[in-house]
Amino acid sequence: MKVDYEKITEALRKDGYVICPHFISEEKLQALRNDLQERFDEGDFHKAGIGKGDAYQIKQEIRGDWVSWWELTKLQPIQQEVYQALDELKVVFNRHLFVGINYLEMHYAVYPSGKFYRKHLDSFQGSDRRRISFVLYLNQEWQEGHGGELRMYLQDRQVKDIKPEGGTLVCFISSELYHEVLPTIQTRYSLTGWMRHDRLEDMLLNH
Ligand code: OGA
Ligand code: MN
Repeated sequence: MKVDYEKITEALRKDGYVICPHFISEEKLQALRNDLQERFDEGDFHKAGIGKGDAYQIKQEIRGDWVSWWELTKLQPIQQEVYQALDELKVVFNRHLFVGINYLEMHYAVYPSGKFYRKHLDSFQGSDRRRISFVLYLNQEWQEGHGGELRMYLQDRQVKDIKPEGGTLVCFISSELYHEVLPTIQTRYSLTGWMRHDRLEDMLLNH
């Protein structure tokens, strides 16, 4: 079944977030999991930090995950396929929401048992290029008691918890939606990324 990108876009427009189960097939999911595992075994992951540039620091009391960034010039075939799907979604976002996304960045993330990511915002309004955050979960048969839910803080003090079930894609507006990863009991796997609007001037400067 083809995922309906227009429907995803409308939900994002309406609510500021969207949850899309079965964003990729079981087969691709398995291939992606294998790729992640290979990288992990090769020592390709590092402890995630917080802050940018000089402010970067590792703080276990804030976040305890390990990450491995995707190098867009060196993607494996399965990564290419998933990248392609997200890139197509980006085109629909741009067409309908005029968000001007021109760059995707993403990393695998592994939360060992007991780890979490405290309540935060992925970008600060006006000062960051991250427009839309996305998380694609890569877990197998996540059970109720396994913890590790993504808790989203919605308007009117509503809270929504999302089970990190394999194949589910969550997208939300980076500068608006506070969220956290609740302590996980099982090892928790995901692909997390951001759709960015980079200014043309900055792209030239970084050339
Ligand atoms: C993040 C994040 C959410 C999740 O990496 O910034 O909030 O569910 N991840 O993994
Ligand atoms: Mn986040």
